[in-house]
Amino acid sequence: HEEFTKVKNIATIELGRYEIETWYFSPFPPEYNDSLKLYFCEFCLNFMKRKEQLQRHMRKCDLKHPPGDEIYRNHTLSMFEVDGKKNKVYGQNLCYLAKLFLDHKTLYYDVDLFLFYILCECDDRGCHMVGYFSKEKHSEESYNLACILTLPPYQRKGYGKFLIAFSYELSKKEGKVGTPERPLSDLGLLSYRGYWTRVLLDILKKHKGNISIKELSDMTAIKAEDILTTLQSLELIQYRKGQHVICADPKVLDRHLKAAGPAGLEVDVGKLIWTPYK
Ligand code: COA
Ligand code: NA
Repeated sequence: HEEFTKVKNIATIELGRYEIETWYFSPFPPEYNDSLKLYFCEFCLNFMKRKEQLQRHMRKCDLKHPPGDEIYRNHTLSMFEVDGKKNKVYGQNLCYLAKLFLDHKTLYYDVDLFLFYILCECDDRGCHMVGYFSKEKHSEESYNLACILTLPPYQRKGYGKFLIAFSYELSKKEGKVGTPERPLSDLGLLSYRGYWTRVLLDILKKHKGNISIKELSDMTAIKAEDILTTLQSLELIQYRKGQHVICADPKVLDRHLKAAGPAGLEVDVGKLIWTPYK
């Protein structure tokens, strides 16, 4: 059975100034499967089996950032939007790379249907990818994010929170609610739970009077089901006199907010220059 042959093949990759140990199997084309290590161009994401090939490539490759539009810039932090249809090879390379760190995600090689949002740290040598998320151009299920990844050397610095917040800012600009595609990994779920808790409880803390799940959803672009499960898991929903009531005791909210951790890197919406895909 095919499942049993999916042992991890590539043990490490070189990408920019990092050598990174991989986590999972990724279905690279067969000619790469006898390599323990692959060398990636950090800009076009082409991969090679030998260091000398990469060095030769770097002399010719004239990309200094992902091949798309810069839609956000805040000091050294940039977001690029790459259309999988216009940049098929880049999209496929990114999927191969990402799968090395994603467990139970089916990879969509039909990259035409996706937009890729690449988060970069920029300096005088170029814009270096630290993470990304993908998004279907048209989602029947109102998914606003398909896959999310922070590259291991950059994890636990708040980039994941930034990417999640960014995905909801795009949904707000579209005037739609959104939700991440399932299943989420453990780390993905932790990050989302934290985001939902912070955003919702911040509103509940400031708000005076009654507020409904629908109103919360309109304000945040978070899907009503995700709001309900978040508030239920925090035991903030009570059933009184035949009605669901959201508890907003400031002390309780503060305790949960503290447990959810800091907001991390903020998305400055004023710096987002973007119109929804048509
Ligand atoms: N151990 C415990 N908690 C962790 C964690 C870890 N290794 N990594 C993330 N978290 C939790 C923490 O609550 C963290 O907040 P805190 O640092 O304030 O405590 C929160 O998630 C988000 O941290 P952040 O630094 O913003 O996230 P990140 O840049 O590390 O990225 C992921 C989070 C999920 C994108 C990243 O772990 C990743 O790329 N994982 C592999 C791919 C994957 O599983 N993607 C999701 C499924 S599609
Ligand atoms: Na996901």
